Amino acid sequence: MAFHLPSLFFSPKRALDVGMLREMKRKRKNIHPPEIFDGTLQPIVAAHDLVKRFDSFVAVDGIDVEIFQGESFGFLGPNGAGKTSTMRMISCMSPASGGSLRVLGRDPAVAGAQIRSRLGLVPQEDTLELELTVLDNMLIYGRYFDLPKKEILERTTRLLDFAQLSDRRDEKVDHLSGGMKRRLTIARALISEPDLLILDEPTTGLDPQARHLLWDRLYRLKAEGVTLIITTHYMDEAEQLCDRLVVMDHGKIVATGAPRDLIVEHSTREVLELRFGIDGHLPHVGGLQDLAERIEVLPDRLLLYVDDGDDALSMIHRRGLVPESALVRRSTLEDVFLHLTGRTLVD
Ligand SMILES: Nc1ncnc2c1ncn2[C@@H]1O[C@H](COP(=O)(O)OP(=O)(O)OP(=O)(O)O)[C@@H](O)[C@H]1O
Ligand SMILES: [Mg+2]
Repeated sequence: MAFHLPSLFFSPKRALDVGMLREMKRKRKNIHPPEIFDGTLQPIVAAHDLVKRFDSFVAVDGIDVEIFQGESFGFLGPNGAGKTSTMRMISCMSPASGGSLRVLGRDPAVAGAQIRSRLGLVPQEDTLELELTVLDNMLIYGRYFDLPKKEILERTTRLLDFAQLSDRRDEKVDHLSGGMKRRLTIARALISEPDLLILDEPTTGLDPQARHLLWDRLYRLKAEGVTLIITTHYMDEAEQLCDRLVVMDHGKIVATGAPRDLIVEHSTREVLELRFGIDGHLPHVGGLQDLAERIEVLPDRLLLYVDDGDDALSMIHRRGLVPESALVRRSTLEDVFLHLTGRTLVD
């Protein structure tokens, strides 16, 4: 990976074009030909009927996923959906209980070490050495990959610059903010110049500014052709960063596709959010049914799924109804999730 390369976006559809594949092969330095480029496009991760059980509890319940080189692929789902369990199987940290899984063309059950050597992992919980400095954390991690010290130092300079942490190089990690720690974990995961970067909830718990900075860094990586797998329960993060994603719930995949396609398939163009005050929502549902394709009743508001929110709102006013507040917005992945599962993503 080279952080200064110009962007090279592609989607699986575009990548099927042979000319594009040749161009990719020429531009990317980090390609391992037998698994990725054998004339057809091989998925970098292929899971079929993949299962993870903890005793009798099924955390991942027979999922099918294919992720391709250069994609930014998301797993969107609420707490307990099975995202981390899936990431741990893909990153060869936890064995599958059933089904088949291939990562970078290999079987994690027999080639875990080889696969891990080509992965960058950003776990859900930071695993940094808090008592050590930023630099020492990078050095120790680089050593796991048997990199010479000189090489680690060169890469560290570049990566700390990329993570906007150069001025913190000699600071104890314990003194960094949450966002800085997250950026350091990402920089650390990149020390081996991985083919695949797995990020489990990269921005959970960060303030909006820190999230946007992290998104920007991830966007740059994606632009350089690094394959990203991201789990999140933030629909805006999934919409911003992911070319394609799966929506997960209770260990199952309930939908797969590009964010925009999922929204078009499972929701209307706009949503009219109405608030009628405490306990004031249910009585209105019957009288509004004909105005919307679908109505969702949430504890604090009604969601009317419509093509034209302003139009629906004027009809409501004409009927003499006066909501406490009304908001017209475009449909999001949150609406997709609500439609498919009957629940919201963040409780
Ligand atoms: N080691 C374990 N032993 C027993 N149950 C587990 C274990 N790890 C996860 N689980 C259970 O599996 C389910 C899925 O957990 P997982 O961590 O994969 O969800 P998640 O989608 O990552 O959730 P979150 O958004 O909260 O991180 C949960 O019900 C969890 O309690
Ligand atoms: Mg998790």
